[in-house]
Amino acid sequence: MEGYSQEDWQRHYDEDDLGWDLGQVAPPFVSLLESNTIFPCKTLVPGCGRGHEVIFLAENGFDVTAVDYSIGAVNHLNSAVSERQLNTRVLNLDFFELDSTHNGLYDLLIEQTFFCAISPSQRSLYVETVARALKKGGMIAGLFYHTGQEGGPPFNTTREDIIEHFSGSFEIRELAQAENSAEQRKDKEWLAILVKK
Ligand SMILES: C[S@@+](CC[C@H](N)C(=O)[O-])C[C@H]1O[C@@H](n2cnc3c(N)ncnc32)[C@H](O)[C@@H]1O
Repeated sequence: MEGYSQEDWQRHYDEDDLGWDLGQVAPPFVSLLESNTIFPCKTLVPGCGRGHEVIFLAENGFDVTAVDYSIGAVNHLNSAVSERQLNTRVLNLDFFELDSTHNGLYDLLIEQTFFCAISPSQRSLYVETVARALKKGGMIAGLFYHTGQEGGPPFNTTREDIIEHFSGSFEIRELAQAENSAEQRKDKEWLAILVKK
């Protein structure tokens, strides 16, 4: 399969080589909270990494479940969660193997640099898994990375890719270039609000 294996991701944590890590919550998510587009609810964050979004949401009252299959990511996030005494679940597993106890459990899923991290051949499985985990009417609030480059990860995500993959199971409520991306992602992110049909 094209892209990284679990060992490849773990190696990045072992070597502290986290080029994707913004070191802070991605600013568009702060705006989504301020505009009440998202509000405290049962939330899933797949491929959470060190979990800046997870901490931000949990500190703002969201009931967050975070998933990452790299132990380096999970250990880091677990320390941050316990330091802040947050009530957040951090699961060390393959997102595509979420068991059926998660079906229809979540109101919101936060997509941040995970869709571009997986192999393009897994994109249909991503949509299936997310659709399975969300309640009907549940929402994906996502930042999708338009790298404009061949290969990956990160694998390029165009506006058309988002429409092609999500329009079957999701209403595309909003899909536009993010306005206040972090400097390194400026003009390269699609902000999508997708609602499960
Ligand atoms: C590019 S990083 C993004 C991390 C975080 N979302 C961020 O923006 O800082 C992708 C993350 O997805 C995780 N990952 C990749 N494939 C996964 C899978 N199938 N299940 C769970 N985690 C996965 C990797 O371990 C890595 O932490």
